[in-house]
Amino acid sequence: MTRPALRLVEVGPRDGLQTAGAKVPTEAKVAFVDALSLSGLGEIETGAFVSPKAVPEMADSAEVFARIARAPGVLYSALVPNEKGLEAALKAKAGKIAVFTAASETFNKKNINASIAESIARFAPVVPAAKTAGLPVRAYISTAFFCPYEGKVAPEAVVEVVKRLEPMSVDEYSIGDTIGRAAPDDARRLLDALLKAVPSERIFLHFHDTYGMAVANALAAWQEFGVSGFDASTGGVGGCPYAPGASGNVAMEDLVFAFQASGGKTGVDLKALQAAAAGLAASLGRPLPSRLSRIRL
Ligand code: HMG
Ligand code: MG
Repeated sequence: MTRPALRLVEVGPRDGLQTAGAKVPTEAKVAFVDALSLSGLGEIETGAFVSPKAVPEMADSAEVFARIARAPGVLYSALVPNEKGLEAALKAKAGKIAVFTAASETFNKKNINASIAESIARFAPVVPAAKTAGLPVRAYISTAFFCPYEGKVAPEAVVEVVKRLEPMSVDEYSIGDTIGRAAPDDARRLLDALLKAVPSERIFLHFHDTYGMAVANALAAWQEFGVSGFDASTGGVGGCPYAPGASGNVAMEDLVFAFQASGGKTGVDLKALQAAAAGLAASLGRPLPSRLSRIRL
């Protein structure tokens, strides 16, 4: 199996900070994104244009987008649930949008107050409008392995959602282990089914790390299936407000270290990630979950 160069998407400023408490100052978010922009990462999910009642932490996303120093070659993307969110993302000059649904009905209802079918209908007009505006579109499928309310999710349920989304011509899928419970055999089972429906170039895997399995999952996906797209969050911060008990995304430092130590090309500078994590830890006034963010390299 060839091992392609990695495509790493930083989701810390969105997924990482969406549960950090409403008091993370805008300037701290801007400083975090600016520090990440110096690390060699190609894409940074910078904010979410969602209801401020649902996720107050993301209410200042427009201001964050307005104040960041955009580095050439870096894509600054935004999470968008509906047309109102797209309007805000376009106004903020986001470089890409991400719509989101789930493979489990109960999680989707709690997260975005819609069934899977309703959520797809909601963003049906969003995808072509974003594409007309020249923006690439990612679709997240959450609870692809386990649902905090329904338990284990069958790979076929994820493939079914992909099949419903394919006619919309989304550019890529990000497959979420929202509660961070998947182990490598779960990843293998899902990829066995999923890669029959979508080529690996259009797949990103989005592992949270509650059970400490995320790096092992990512290595298995890359080494055994040739999947090269992964989401991670510098410092390992975060979680989902509608997935109780779920911890942060896999730390970007851990993924970069694991891939580089296994001969992978990431284009990312670990020391720059550590600097970004140190700045964030200082702003939050607490150490971050990632051990590697504190190890002297
Ligand atoms: P709703 O209540 O069903 O929708 O919420 P609504 O259209 O009736 O709107 C309710 C209120 O929100 C209205 O305001 C709207 O104007 C406002 P009010 O009249 O009450 O003052 N509103 C908005 N405001 C700003 N921007 C918008 C927007 N849309 C409506 N775009 C809705 C439905 C989807 C809006 C809501 O449930 C929501 O925003 N949910 C967001 C939930 C969220 O962000 N969750 C975390 C991200 S998902 C995640 O973390 C998983 C992921 O990381 C992958 C993984 O780990 O698996 C991606
Ligand atoms: Mg997530």
